[in-house]
Amino acid sequence: MDKNESPRDIPDSIKQRVLELAWDTDFARYNATNLGDLRVALGAALSVPADTIITGNGSDECILILSLAFGGSGTVVIVPTPTFGTYVDAARWSGATVVNVPRRAPTFDLDVDEIVAAGLTADANAPSEKRFASIVYLCRPNNPTGNTCTEEDVRRVLNVPRCLVVVDEAYFEFANMTVVPWTKEYENLIVLRTFSKAYSIAGLRVGYMISNPELVKRLDQCRLPYNVNVFSQAVALVVLEERNWFIEWARTLAGNCRELQGRLSRIPGVRVFPSITNFVLFETPLPARDVYPMLVDKGIMVRQYPSDTVLERCLRVSVGNPEQDELFLRELRTILAGTHIH
Ligand SMILES: Cc1ncc(COP(=O)(O)O)c(C=O)c1O
Repeated sequence: MDKNESPRDIPDSIKQRVLELAWDTDFARYNATNLGDLRVALGAALSVPADTIITGNGSDECILILSLAFGGSGTVVIVPTPTFGTYVDAARWSGATVVNVPRRAPTFDLDVDEIVAAGLTADANAPSEKRFASIVYLCRPNNPTGNTCTEEDVRRVLNVPRCLVVVDEAYFEFANMTVVPWTKEYENLIVLRTFSKAYSIAGLRVGYMISNPELVKRLDQCRLPYNVNVFSQAVALVVLEERNWFIEWARTLAGNCRELQGRLSRIPGVRVFPSITNFVLFETPLPARDVYPMLVDKGIMVRQYPSDTVLERCLRVSVGNPEQDELFLRELRTILAGTHIH
């Protein structure tokens, strides 16, 4: 329960179709369409042109492609923290300067004024030949805090001069909110998506970005050929065709996650950060470094953040199947029994 994956594999009937398709696929050949098929299918599903989409080996690779295309020395990558760690890693690998903008305590809301100020400073100092002075990552909803930011917040950041705004919608299927239609309106917006969460194929590594044809062309220049393999592409095409099933699945998981939050918040001493995703961040009276190994001892893996002092007492748990949720709640209750000072 530590990686926000879907707690179940794709249904057998869909897997059967996948295996038949795999049987018909010639593994001796490179991806003949060089991802064209998946772009066309995604374009149709999202009602956007295929040339506004670029696919990656998971959205992790999309973040790397982004850093190669628009990061590098002289640029600033602005990261509202705490958030998904790969933004910072990829920015550093590219040679960009990272500016962390802490989210506001105790709700972890975005500090939009600080983000805009950091963007304006980057613009004032960046070499003029750089197309974008800064990249801002807005994870919406945010991992690990589970909350979102308003459309008005996103628009304010989009209006910062020479600022590329990446809205990571890895969990959008659970929250049911998207800014994809805005890619027609803003020339500095890139939306990041993944098949790893609601679509239950994290192990196959398929992610994608939606933007405008000009930015996609630039991103494509930094993409290795055939970066999504033929098998993963075939599976992504099948699950996309079956998306109604997965949308319903995401709805179920979101409901289970709400229930998990309710039950967690009734454990004495536990504070839950309200989440609209498939995971929940919670705080306990004990340091996370003490609770974490006790859960591991019981065979339960959750996510801890040892290097982030703001999250010293926090852990993140992904919604599991009902038995896993039950076991997690029972063991946490036992671990914390007696630790809460009334
Ligand atoms: C916000 C966010 N973005 C991107 C990813 C990466 O997903 P993947 O590389 O599996 O597509 C994750 C995975 O946990 C995530 O939480």
